[in-house]
Amino acid sequence: MNAAPVTGPAPDAFFALRDVHAYYGESYIVQGVSLEVRKGEVLALLGRNGAGKTSTMRAIARADEPAVMRGEIWLEGQPVHQMKSWQASQAGIQLVPEDRRIIPGMTVEENLILSQVAPNKGWEIAQIYEHFPRLAERRNQEGITLSGGEQQMLAVARALAREVKLLLLDEPYEGLAPVIVREIEHIVQDIKARGITTIIVEQNAVAALRLADRAVILDSGELVFTGSAQELLDNADLRNRYLAI
Ligand SMILES: Nc1ncnc2c1ncn2[C@@H]1O[C@H](COP(=O)(O)OP(=O)(O)OP(=O)(O)O)[C@@H](O)[C@H]1O
Ligand SMILES: [Mg+2]
Repeated sequence: MNAAPVTGPAPDAFFALRDVHAYYGESYIVQGVSLEVRKGEVLALLGRNGAGKTSTMRAIARADEPAVMRGEIWLEGQPVHQMKSWQASQAGIQLVPEDRRIIPGMTVEENLILSQVAPNKGWEIAQIYEHFPRLAERRNQEGITLSGGEQQMLAVARALAREVKLLLLDEPYEGLAPVIVREIEHIVQDIKARGITTIIVEQNAVAALRLADRAVILDSGELVFTGSAQELLDNADLRNRYLAI
């Protein structure tokens, strides 16, 4: 089934979800999520295991599943809810999935080149290497033989090789040592400084909140908090209830 028809004008926000409902078959997972992200902002999307964070990110990127059955998704006035995943990607929505999806049998550089689409509006390979010196050193190494942290860098770099208006990072710090987490954090800060808007999903809420301007908390597919990152850091009750930190 297709998403519901457009019912209203695009909101002013750079990026917005309006009452999005999404399903895996009969399973009702994303239950009426509305949120807004301003241009250049980092939004932390937090919540317990199974809260629906990945599902929300997949809905935004217009993955086949979960299917968005109701609601609207807007990027700079464009109706993303009417797009297929490749159109959302072309519109500038780039999802870096939790499993990183490095392509086996290809070097670092081949993974990067494959991500570029003609006409290329993303970062040039040289620019990527400038920002990711570890990838430059390993350009001829097979991508899947990289360390976890390096694979995460490659996954982010691949997103940048396309035009990025909204970067969706699903658990970029998962399984990484604190020193590598810091390195990835610097990369995200650098991306932010270039005006790229980001939604970051993280179990490591403290690390995500260090970067984020604002935060939302999902619980059982519904938003239970929207506010500034600082408000959440200051609210022990919310953190205990929904994040266990
Ligand atoms: N392909 C699927 N088919 C059916 N149900 C699914 C599917 N993928 C996820 N779910 C269910 O949707 C709910 C939300 O899952 P989701 O992966 O979005 O959570 P999450 O917040 O990202 O959790 P985590 O922190 O563990 O990554 C869970 O109950 C999960 O079992
Ligand atoms: Mg997840």
